[in-house]
Amino acid sequence: MRKPTSKADRSGRHTAREAAASGADFRQEEIRESHGYEVGAAEGGAASGLEERSGEIPQQSDPAGDDLPLAREAKRAVRVLNPAGSVSMPRPAHRRVIAVANQKGGVGKTTSAVNMAVALALHGNRVMVVDLDPQGNASTGLGVEHGAGLNSVYEAIVDNAPLHEVAHRVEGIPSLYCVPATIDLAGAEVELVNVVAREARLRKSIAAFEGEVDYIFIDCPPSLGLLTVNALVAAEEVLIPIQCEYYALEGLGQLLRNIELVKAHLNSRLRVSTILLTMYDKRTKLADQVEQEVRGHFNEIVLDSVVPRSVRLSEAPGYGQSIMTYDPGSRGATSYFEAAEEIALRGAKSSSRRQSQTSEKGGN
Ligand SMILES: Nc1ncnc2c1ncn2[C@@H]1O[C@H](COP(=O)(O)OP(=O)(O)OP(=O)(O)O)[C@@H](O)[C@H]1O
Ligand SMILES: [Mg+2]
Repeated sequence: MRKPTSKADRSGRHTAREAAASGADFRQEEIRESHGYEVGAAEGGAASGLEERSGEIPQQSDPAGDDLPLAREAKRAVRVLNPAGSVSMPRPAHRRVIAVANQKGGVGKTTSAVNMAVALALHGNRVMVVDLDPQGNASTGLGVEHGAGLNSVYEAIVDNAPLHEVAHRVEGIPSLYCVPATIDLAGAEVELVNVVAREARLRKSIAAFEGEVDYIFIDCPPSLGLLTVNALVAAEEVLIPIQCEYYALEGLGQLLRNIELVKAHLNSRLRVSTILLTMYDKRTKLADQVEQEVRGHFNEIVLDSVVPRSVRLSEAPGYGQSIMTYDPGSRGATSYFEAAEEIALRGAKSSSRRQSQTSEKGGN
């Protein structure tokens, strides 16, 4: 049986459903109000200036979000990272569901999902992070409670709880939501074994979710088990973080084969859209070699932005914060900011290419 949803009284945070009840759901008006600018404006280029558009401290209609220190930090982050407002992260034409996957542990999956989600949310996008790892690291990194027994992604994929009932608003960052993972999720792979269409549980849950979100990042566990398969079936894109270290490419072939299998049998829309190089240490030749090899092999799907090895990046989750708010001036923050911008711009390009192909076909 599903547990009672309301944790707002305990945590001071609100589920998306509660936010909706207070008039602060996933709608565009919320973002417009909370950011103080039109989110769609980014699509027309940033000439109007993000600083100007987000000049006010985010005003949340949710009282818990008003003038919180984290909200002030978020505002500061935008000022530091995008001082002239010259960078835009256009909202995609349709919801982008991105699985962040690599069965190798500790390569930066969670750090990448969390920081890119925050960067996109700070620049006018509506973003949800689905924590699909029983370790609950993405929930921790976003400061969302995920103690055993709390409503979480487990209830969504095992008990059919609607996603909006288990999504939580991320404190201080308007238009960012997190579906946390609790340790209950560790049992899900076993519990789902006899369930019909067990690989498509998350897909079903996301498909039924009507809230307007531009991005859903699914943070996968370090395995190729049923949870990761659920992410690959639910997503359209896979983002693979690759650590610039020894053994970086080991296991990658297996991941790519699994992705091909899912594509062939369960989700024909799936593609590896993005590779992000992480933990790059410029003092070592090895990092450079890994970068050359990955770029040589995967070409343009590798983001230009490379995430450096940085102590600040590893400290931020300890404060329940992304690097964007923890230390927006750091190299780690800049690299994730640039990576998020690339993802947004590449998505905008490919969707306009798709649109023109469709209209060309229509014209013939
Ligand atoms: N660029 C970086 N520089 C330094 N430390 C980093 C960097 N990126 C991530 N870390 C740290 O390395 C550890 C692993 O990162 P992270 O949790 O993001 O990897 P992961 O792939 O999600 O791991 P898992 O496979 O366990 O889910 C964490 O302690 C994180 O804070
Ligand atoms: Mg992780």
